Amino acid sequence: MLSKKIEEALNKQLNFEIESAHIYLAMSGYFGDLGLDGFKNFFDVQYEEELAHAKKFMNFIIEKGGRVNITGFESPKNDYESIMEVFKISLEHEREVTARIYDLVDLTKEEREHSTESFLQWFVDEQVEEEATFEDIINKLKLLDGVGTYLLDRELAERTLEEIAE
Ligand SMILES: [Fe+2]
Ligand SMILES: [Fe+2]
Repeated sequence: MLSKKIEEALNKQLNFEIESAHIYLAMSGYFGDLGLDGFKNFFDVQYEEELAHAKKFMNFIIEKGGRVNITGFESPKNDYESIMEVFKISLEHEREVTARIYDLVDLTKEEREHSTESFLQWFVDEQVEEEATFEDIINKLKLLDGVGTYLLDRELAERTLEEIAE
């Protein structure tokens, strides 16, 4: 049995995982539009992963004799200024998810709902990975940005006054 409070909190997170999936699907669409198939693939996988998280919550609620409640969803952001912006928003989003999971764990401790607390431990660990994945890509993008600037700098250094005269 789940208390109403825990059931509602689990349903809220279940819906937030689906919302996360939509956010990443929109990002996949953005990269598809840019023709960056690798980035698109990354977010397609991320989308599937968030749906799998949602399913985990759904199955747990059912197993505990609770009632699943699917709601409407916020529209995700579909347009971005840059590749970096996409990853920065993703990292911020994952930090928000982590904060919500922690709040949920706090609630289970208050209510002495040990089985839900144990169930949530998987998500506590998963969030470490999720944040690290996006932090890692942001760091790589920063490094690549440096290389790009370096290459462009070399190219621009080749320019001579003759070219203008021609
Ligand atoms: Fe998730
Ligand atoms: Fe996630």
